[in-house]
Amino acid sequence: MSVSADVVKKIEDGYAKLQGAKDCKSLLKKHLSKGVVDQLKDKKTKLGATLLDVIQSGVANLDSGVGVYAPDAEAYTLFKPLFDPIIQEYHNGFSPSQKQPATDLGEGKTHLLPDLDPEGKFIQSTRVRCGRSLQGYPFNPCLTEANYTEMEQKVKGVFEQINDGELSGTYFPLKGMTKEIQNQLIADHFLFKEGDRFLQHANACRYWPTGRGIFHNKNKTFLVWVNEEDHLRIISMQNGGNVGQVLERLIKGVKTIETKIPFSRDDRLGWLTFCPSNLGTTVRASVHIKLPKISAKPDFQKICDGLKLQIRGIHGEHSESAGGVYDISNKARLGLTEFEAVKQMYDGVKHLIDLEKKA
Ligand code: ADP
Ligand code: ARG
Repeated sequence: MSVSADVVKKIEDGYAKLQGAKDCKSLLKKHLSKGVVDQLKDKKTKLGATLLDVIQSGVANLDSGVGVYAPDAEAYTLFKPLFDPIIQEYHNGFSPSQKQPATDLGEGKTHLLPDLDPEGKFIQSTRVRCGRSLQGYPFNPCLTEANYTEMEQKVKGVFEQINDGELSGTYFPLKGMTKEIQNQLIADHFLFKEGDRFLQHANACRYWPTGRGIFHNKNKTFLVWVNEEDHLRIISMQNGGNVGQVLERLIKGVKTIETKIPFSRDDRLGWLTFCPSNLGTTVRASVHIKLPKISAKPDFQKICDGLKLQIRGIHGEHSESAGGVYDISNKARLGLTEFEAVKQMYDGVKHLIDLEKKA
């Protein structure tokens, strides 16, 4: 089946809109050349996804940093001429000939990550998350309502089997959750936001809240998001700066879940995710930290860039800092191991704390 004239026109109009958007700094705009448009506009994945599905979020949201999503796993190969340069630029130069190394979550090595802030002067909390996609299912834009319900039932069954003093907990579907509880969980940094315009424009929020939800243990230190941006986001978090302890719990959680449900992994790209920025390890290790002196300096962003760190606001991506608290994490997730990704955050934040002490 060929791509309809209507869709091809939308792709061409999207390209023209990006060209005209002088302030747009997305990787999509940078790498979507006329040549790439012409090469890819007539292609369709087996599930029927086109270049329009890949670019539409970045075309609608000109303030995107990345701007593309993969509607299904095949999109990463079929639309390679667009994805590869974006992946390369986002993940520290990960080239088309490079391969994601074998998984190394850091088992047996978490003692190498002792508390970054034993006196509790700088770090409020630490969080490490990873994403996973269930084998046999495409990403959000290609999922049917029945897929969502089925996937939710599957993972709910897995959660019910978790039989561990620390990790065991309860699954709370978004459907039926009161707004009050939902908003409290979001404000307390446990639950994903609602109405993310980047995801909405990528067609990733269909049938919301069907199939979406959150599992957490009693202390809310081990959590799993279901069917938000990725099928699963597995999260370990706690107050303070004990990165090793947080990672240890994540490892235990991932290992428990992966024995019960198979995940999609690509030989080159590692664990598969909806957004190319999360491929590979899928790991974002972060601290909520106050660095009043150095964060006020004009070169704070540059210092973080140099340490391969990403700065986010207090309510996560696309939010602002409040009360001087920043979310500092590793930026790249592909081309290194999980342990190395966490270590990148660890070493970088350690350095930032040293700079703050000396400032
Ligand atoms: P993700 O980390 O899954 O990519 P976000 O950046 O939107 O997504 O963050 C999700 C939530 O996790 C937000 O509420 C954010 O404030 C919270 N969060 C991130 N890092 C930390 C941390 N170190 N401590 C506490 N909450 C955190
Ligand atoms: N599409 C959004 C942008 O380009 C988000 C990119 C990375 N974040 C994510 N949650 N996948 O700004």
